Amino acid sequence: MSKLIFVANRLPVTISREDAGLSFAPSIGGLATGLGSVHSAENSLWIGWCGLGGGELSEAETAELERRLPQEYASVPVFLSDQEMQLYYYGFCNRTIWPLFHYFNHYAVYDHGEWECYREVNHKFFRRVAEVVDEEDTVWIHDYQLMLLPALIREKFPKVKIGYFLHIPFPSYEIFRLLPWRKEILEGMLGADLIGFHAYDYVRHFLSSVRRLLGYEHNLGYINIRRRLVKADVFPMGIDYQRYQEAHLQPAVREQIREITEKIKGTRLVLSVDRLDYTKGIPERIKAFSRFLDDYPAYREKVTMAMIVAPSRTEVEAYHELLREIQELVGFTNGEHGTIGWVPVWFFYRSFDFNHLTALYSVADVMLVTPLRDGMNLVAKEYIATRVDQKGMLVISETAGAASELGEAVIVNAGNTREVAEGIKTALEMKDEEKIERNRHMLKRLAHYNVEFWAQDFLRRLGGVEEVQRINLSQRLDPAAVQRLLRQADQARRRLFLLDYDTSLMGFANKQAGGRPTRELHQLLQRLAADQHNEVLIVSGRDRAELERWFDDLPVHLAASHGLWLRTAGEQWESTEMVAEDWKGTMRPLLELHTSRTPGATIEEKDHSLAWHYHRCEPELAAVRVSELKDTLEDLTSNLNIGLVYGSQVIEIKDTRINKGQAAAVWLAKKDWDFIFAVGDDWTDEDFFTILPESAYSVKVGLGASHAHFRVESVEQVRHLLKQLVVASSREKSQSRSSGKAGKAVNHD
Ligand code: UDP
Ligand code: G6P
Repeated sequence: MSKLIFVANRLPVTISREDAGLSFAPSIGGLATGLGSVHSAENSLWIGWCGLGGGELSEAETAELERRLPQEYASVPVFLSDQEMQLYYYGFCNRTIWPLFHYFNHYAVYDHGEWECYREVNHKFFRRVAEVVDEEDTVWIHDYQLMLLPALIREKFPKVKIGYFLHIPFPSYEIFRLLPWRKEILEGMLGADLIGFHAYDYVRHFLSSVRRLLGYEHNLGYINIRRRLVKADVFPMGIDYQRYQEAHLQPAVREQIREITEKIKGTRLVLSVDRLDYTKGIPERIKAFSRFLDDYPAYREKVTMAMIVAPSRTEVEAYHELLREIQELVGFTNGEHGTIGWVPVWFFYRSFDFNHLTALYSVADVMLVTPLRDGMNLVAKEYIATRVDQKGMLVISETAGAASELGEAVIVNAGNTREVAEGIKTALEMKDEEKIERNRHMLKRLAHYNVEFWAQDFLRRLGGVEEVQRINLSQRLDPAAVQRLLRQADQARRRLFLLDYDTSLMGFANKQAGGRPTRELHQLLQRLAADQHNEVLIVSGRDRAELERWFDDLPVHLAASHGLWLRTAGEQWESTEMVAEDWKGTMRPLLELHTSRTPGATIEEKDHSLAWHYHRCEPELAAVRVSELKDTLEDLTSNLNIGLVYGSQVIEIKDTRINKGQAAAVWLAKKDWDFIFAVGDDWTDEDFFTILPESAYSVKVGLGASHAHFRVESVEQVRHLLKQLVVASSREKSQSRSSGKAGKAVNHD
């Protein structure tokens, strides 16, 4: 039976030291509770750091954890030495990635030793995975502490399904590029089949970095990394909705609600709950509350802000400074606005448990969630789900991932003190009916996309990606298929080769360098075409002059300009269609305008088309321009016989009556072929793949949807195959010679 293996920095169980020894309690964080149901329901395991440093554990305790965690919590512990905790956890994770990915690049430290340790710890996690994983298992890796792990697993266990989820923002390329080890991080993540993010912007930024730094193109979130497809998509994490909805029913929570209500004595409550973190905008929030009291003095003694700050990552310097700043600001605010009997800000620097927290959520009139940057922020969702009478109002900053799902809340800019102060007032003064109406929509969403749905959705999609890859892989021209192909070619006497040129016979780099075939390719085509049983047709979008210049001395047939022109070897060019070209006058100025706005772009005028090349352009800009061109041209061309063709880094406007299929059809009709081999890479080649008989060997170069029966990864593989075909036919010749049948076996015509 296959397993589901979760890997996260932390385990779903918190281990602490008590007088009597180690004590175990289920963790309460969003991830642990969220995946809890999947973890307990499935045949699953959870691998994670035990949470204690090496120096804190005796040998006997280590052995106890090794024994008890798998048995009692379906968990496998990873142990970190004190040094690893410093360099990996407090170091690279929380002094480099965390600040950088949250746009606090001025806090980010780039330390080679910490990076090395991060790599080592990822290997350490890998070794734990390797001990338990089987080929048919699914591994779901979580968060920024384990960005290298997907590729480590992929390398050793190529068949394992791997999901990766980043719980923090993925920053824009301009920020991400600052990281000295940026390529290694991306390559690590790309070991997964599916990469999940909380928000669409993070997906966009990730795809952009992948394209710019590694050169991998993407389409509809599928990244083509040559040997595989990797999907990047959005999965906004939900909460354990039911648990928060029902919290107020628990006697312990009811009791606390009663106590808090009594203590606040009729004043209204503004609540904020965070881990201590500079990303959370805590100082800014205190300033905004102070401004609110300044601007609206009528609220003095009538509103109190309870601020819960849970200690976190205490050994990172930036967190110490922050704590000092918060304490000072709380002091100032209380000093400035407080009165006898009224403390404006209640500050708690400790972690609250579920009961205490949900009691506060239940009574808070306003929940203030104003991070400067936050991947998601579960507190915002928890508050809405807990406040069942729907008479509370959330004020949330637009830089929290959750804001994109909670559009009915009061949305503010966390850095704008006045706006946050206004937001507090708006929320406090909102009528109950309006609050209920707004909360109703948000609750519905939270109830539907809860954490269990989130996990299931991710896992379902992970299965789906595997399916897409399986289809691609199933079409791969594997050694057995190559043998069949060679055997069939061996036996055939009327062989037709339909060969696309760019990115099928010659690599893309060559196209950028002008496109001329290499001597090696030239010789290969010569040998292929020299066989009297072979007919070779080179089908290209290039124009007549170019093909003629390169192939004039070879006995190959040519189809130029996507089939507008045909030339049988040694004869004259013939046109397959008479095509009007007056449309070019309208289109050319438009393309010129786009070219002048896009550095690196060029226009190529062919006899039947206008091509706009963008392989030398900055990819993001080119993508924008292509979609603009598409819109404009589609408007302009809707009544004509001209259309758009998307090639590899080129968009071409041409007469739709001309296509490569038409040229191929002329040759298909010439003989009763008993072996047909066709190769192409982009969708102009699909025009000939679709008209080939079922028995043809049609081969697509690279990934992507295709009508071809088979697929190879590279131009090198195509050439290798053609070489094998040349060898097969020369073997056949020598056999014919030795049996005295040369030239008689087949009537070539
Ligand atoms: N939390 C808690 N006690 C506290 C403070 C926070 O249990 O004193 C929980 C809170 O309920 C939430 C999580 O910690 O589930 C914080 O998640 P969030 O996404 O808001 O922020 P993060 O800490 O992941 O940056
Ligand atoms: C964020 C991160 C989690 C992390 C949590 C608590 O939510 O995305 O990966 O576990 O903060 O931080 P800590 O450093 O205590 O694990």
